Amino acid sequence: MTLAAAAVLTATFAAAQNLDAGKSPQKLFADGCATCHRSPRGLAKGRFTLTLSWFLKDHYATSSDTAKALAAYLESVDTAPAAAKPGAKRSGPRPPKSSQSQ
Ligand code: HEC
Repeated sequence: MTLAAAAVLTATFAAAQNLDAGKSPQKLFADGCATCHRSPRGLAKGRFTLTLSWFLKDHYATSSDTAKALAAYLESVDTAPAAAKPGAKRSGPRPPKSSQSQ
């Protein structure tokens, strides 16, 4: 019973994957990813498109073309890198200033 259900699910998923060809990345995301990821924003996290498409291929078994298109899409909507924030200068740890004057 459980096996049959799993087989049906797998077949459905495989069929859905085949239909992915020719869909826009937006549509792909809405159909296949939005269930779990509400927004495509913030997923790329500044990764390279190549790294990202490897991740997508690995985790979601999409074709490499689909993965590339999705990766490029995620990057295009990703928020600006944190480094661009004004006033986000990093200062290293400073030794505590002693308030006691000796
Ligand atoms: C069944 C739910 C589910 C679906 C569907 C799903 N994801 Fe995910 N995704 C997750 C979970 C859970 C994680 C976190 C896993 C982890 O950190 O290893 C994740 C992680 C990711 C990450 C890495 C984010 C990070 O913080 O490093 C990316 C990118 C991503 N998903 C993209 C996609 C794309 C694109 C799709 C559609 C093809 C998709 N996901 C579909 C559940 C899902």
